[in-house]
Amino acid sequence: MGQYQEKDMDVLEASRLPVGEGRRLIDRLEQERGLPKPKMAALIASNCSELREYAGAKARAIADARYGKGIFIRGLIEFTNYCKNDCYYCGIRRGNAKAKRYRLSVEDVMACCKEGERLGFRTFVLQGGEDPYYTDGRMVELIRRIRAAYPECAITLSIGERERESYERFWEAGADRYLLRHETADESHYRVLHPYNLSLAHRMQCLKNLKEIGFQTGCGFMVGSPGQTARHLAEDFAFIGQLRPEMVGIGPFIPHHDTPFANEARGSLELTLYLLSLLRIQQPDLLLPATTALATIHPRGRELGIEAGANVVMPNLSPTGVRDKYSLYDGKACTGDEAAECRNCLERRIESVGYHVVVGRGDHRGRI
Ligand code: 5AD
Ligand code: FES
Repeated sequence: MGQYQEKDMDVLEASRLPVGEGRRLIDRLEQERGLPKPKMAALIASNCSELREYAGAKARAIADARYGKGIFIRGLIEFTNYCKNDCYYCGIRRGNAKAKRYRLSVEDVMACCKEGERLGFRTFVLQGGEDPYYTDGRMVELIRRIRAAYPECAITLSIGERERESYERFWEAGADRYLLRHETADESHYRVLHPYNLSLAHRMQCLKNLKEIGFQTGCGFMVGSPGQTARHLAEDFAFIGQLRPEMVGIGPFIPHHDTPFANEARGSLELTLYLLSLLRIQQPDLLLPATTALATIHPRGRELGIEAGANVVMPNLSPTGVRDKYSLYDGKACTGDEAAECRNCLERRIESVGYHVVVGRGDHRGRI
C-alpha cells in the first residue's frame, strides 16, 4: 500500500449530483453509449459508494452477458526499459539517471514466450520504453520470430509512438494488437504531464493510424494523475467514444520517487473502480484489464477490478532478474514472483470471485 495520501474528490471540479440523478445518468449512459461531456463530468465527480455499487452491478452484468465468467490473460514481456522520452510521471523516463537500464535479447524474449505458452498464455505483449535500439528492423525480426514459433498466438506491441510506415511494417510482420495509452484527452492536461517535445495530437494520430491499419487497439489513461479533474476524465470518455478502441487500460497514478511527481498524491482505488464500471457501461464489449497498478494500491486490487467490470489480466512474464528494473512507479506488485507463481496466484484470485481463466487468444468480440 502506498505511503502517500490518497487524492480525493477535491481534484474534481464539477459539483456532486443527488444519487437518484446519478443513477438516471448511469441508465442513460447505458442506453445512449455516451453522455454529453458536462453530464459525464458531473457523474464522475459524484463518485460515492451508492453510485459505485449501482454502476458496478450494472457493469458486471453487462460483462457477464458478453463474456460469461471467463477472464482473458495476456503475458506481459517488458523487454526494454530504455526510453528516449521524459514524461514527468514515469520511473523509466530518460531523465532518471538512477534507473538501472536493461534490454532483453531476442533469445531472452523467445524464452519468455516459451514459458508463457507452457503456462497457457496465447497472447504475448511486448512492452518497452521508446528505445531507439529497437529499430523498426529489429522489431520486425522479433515479431517474425515469435509469429513463426507461435502461429496461433496473438502478438501485442506496446512500444509507444512511431510513424505510420513503422506500424505498417509491424503489422505485415505479424503483430495483431497495439497498446498506446493516450494518457489524457485534454491538451492542457497533457502539457502538465509531458515535456514540450511530446504532443497529444501526434499520439492521437498514432492511435488513428493503428486502427486504420487493422490493429486491435488499446488506449487508456491514469486515474488521479497530477492536475486531473472530472472534466478531463469526461474528455477521456468522449475520446474513447469516438475512437472505439478494442481495449482501454486504466490504473491509478502512483508516484515514483525519482520523478518530478515524487511528492504528488496517488490516484484513488474507488475512483478507478468507478471509472472501470462506467467504461464497461459506455462500451459493453471493451476488453478492460484489471491492471498491475490497481493490484499495487490494494492487496485485492485485481479482484476488485474484475468485480467492477474488468475482464482481462496481464501478468508479468519477464525474467525475475529484470522485473524490479521495469519500475514505472513505486511498490509495483508481483516483481518478486516467477511467471509460474504469478499464473497460479492469479488463477486462485480470479476463482475467488467466481471467475475462471480462459486459455485462448481472447480476441475482441464483434460489436453490437
Ligand atoms: N503510475 C501509474 N501508471 C503509470 N504509467 C506510467 N507511469 C505511471 C505511474 N507513475 C502508465 C502509463 C503508461 C503505462 C505503460 O503505464 O499510463 O502508458
Ligand atoms: Fe503475481 Fe499474484 S498475481 S504473484
